Amino acid sequence: MDYVEQRMAQEAAKPAGGASDSLFTPLNLALLGLFLYTTYTLLLKPSPPAALPKEEPAIVFRTFTPRTLLPYNGENNMPVYLAVRGRVFDVTRGRNFYGPGGPYANFAGRDASRGLACGSFDEEMLTKDLDGPLDTLADLGRDEMEALQGWEDRFSEKYLVVGKLLPVGEEDKA
Ligand code: HEM
Repeated sequence: MDYVEQRMAQEAAKPAGGASDSLFTPLNLALLGLFLYTTYTLLLKPSPPAALPKEEPAIVFRTFTPRTLLPYNGENNMPVYLAVRGRVFDVTRGRNFYGPGGPYANFAGRDASRGLACGSFDEEMLTKDLDGPLDTLADLGRDEMEALQGWEDRFSEKYLVVGKLLPVGEEDKA
């Protein structure tokens, strides 16, 4: 018997289940499991419905008085607004600066004009009487007004104007 005949005889002598024995090795079973799992997760698993992006609240230009501006100080999840020379800026994206605990939190919800002009965070820079007249800044010098202009320019580039600050009694005259 030559070699080929010998091999054929050997193959023929193998038990009928021989082929399937070699197919179900632990490795093949593991691969099959992996294949089934991947197919299930990629194709068959129901995917959760796509969440619609949350709509930004509409920005409405409105009038504020020092008192109605006050709640916009970033507390209780409120946006952060501040006023500069009668213009109310939404500085919420600068929450790190103006939000609770931020270095400039004293300006949040307030007329920040005098504090920015004078480079001061003192309480007395803020309008005390929330129902009184607005700060006219009439006593400030040129340097202070220039500094204020610088801040205003920066805010105009960075933040949206969402309203106008008016004294109590004049809010309807916007
Ligand atoms: C010790 C002095 C001060 C230091 C070291 C300082 C530092 C800074 C720094 C690093 C920033 C961030 C700048 C950026 O990333 O755009 C900033 C922002 C700001 N600073 Fe100061 N600051 C000082 C004093 C003041 C004073 C005296 C005022 C005015 C009262 C002031 C008002 C502001 C404001 C309003 C912003 C935020 C501007 C925005 O909303 O983009 N800072 N400061």
